[in-house]
Amino acid sequence: MIEKLVRKNILKFQAYIPGKPIAEVKRGLGLKSVIKLASNENPLGPSPKAIQALKKGLNNVFLYPDSGMLLKYKIAGKLDLRPSNVILGNGSDELIEIIGKTFLNPEDEIIVSADGFIRYKMAGDLMNCRVIAVPGKDYKHDLAGMKAAVTPQTKIIFIANPNNPTGTYVTSREVEEFFHELRPDIIVVFDEAYYEYVIQKDYPQTLTYLQQGWNVIILRTFSKIYALAGLRVGYGLAGAETISYMERIRPPFNVNSLAQAAAEASLDDRQQVKKSRALVEKEREILYRELAKLPVTYIPSATNFILIDLKREAGEISKKLLASGVIVRPMGEYGLTTCIRVTIGLPAENKRFITTLKKQL
Ligand SMILES: Cc1ncc(COP(=O)(O)O)c(C=O)c1O
Repeated sequence: MIEKLVRKNILKFQAYIPGKPIAEVKRGLGLKSVIKLASNENPLGPSPKAIQALKKGLNNVFLYPDSGMLLKYKIAGKLDLRPSNVILGNGSDELIEIIGKTFLNPEDEIIVSADGFIRYKMAGDLMNCRVIAVPGKDYKHDLAGMKAAVTPQTKIIFIANPNNPTGTYVTSREVEEFFHELRPDIIVVFDEAYYEYVIQKDYPQTLTYLQQGWNVIILRTFSKIYALAGLRVGYGLAGAETISYMERIRPPFNVNSLAQAAAEASLDDRQQVKKSRALVEKEREILYRELAKLPVTYIPSATNFILIDLKREAGEISKKLLASGVIVRPMGEYGLTTCIRVTIGLPAENKRFITTLKKQL
């Protein structure tokens, strides 16, 4: 009976499959020691300044959070924008959905990369509009292909840069070519969840596009390098008018007061960001070296995770890794059935992953 009551497009929906939590794996498999390299979290943990802010904020949790004005001011100040250019989300994930709800009618189309982050497609499906998934090229977004897929119905194009799960990025040159003669009323969303990890010089500084008045929305998050994934806070940057429409449907109090306080304090700690980036850079090279000795291939990554092609069904190997207490992410959800995605962890975690993988292969 209930099925008849559900919106028709929801009947086709598959729930998002997150990385397995450590506690669940410990309990389920009776393991004492489990490491999680499955959700691109930062194992160094948050800035001490954020922890301090959280402790201080605890006494005030009886109050509703404010609308995030202080955090917006701080983000805007750092980026040379106005607070009216900033919207806060319960993770950048919520903002993906808010973009869908704000702009998409059923007759609209969105364009995504077929191996792009899956939540864009889900936002399109949620709004019951057409989702055009353009195959990637060498695990990268094929921007020329995405542009060629534009139709009069195209309203939003989503670009994850760097992309999850491939770890690849598109360059400023590619992006600028992409914008050349693109219809200006198409919204281009740059999801830059891993922005702070990128060191490549040809990575596009999309903020300049926004400052030039291009029709872009930039998404960033405190979940990745700032290591606040459990608190759920991300932000969107766009023209003030774009933000004002998104604000109309943002749930009130979507970012709790502790998350706001921790995020604000994190922005004052450049050291934590530097340290986290340095760990990833160093460990990524070590992982590359070790992976090169195994019968697998990997996709060079601009960020804190690596997509590895095991050249065999990845689901089985992932289960075996799990049974040994190493949680990684099999990529069947993306149609990459022979691939796993592994977050770059602490040195000992990476070593354990390699040793366990070697055994299973
Ligand atoms: C590309 C990308 N965008 C957005 C998100 C969502 O991050 P959050 O909602 O924690 O900000 C993720 C998380 O894995 C991601 O990989």
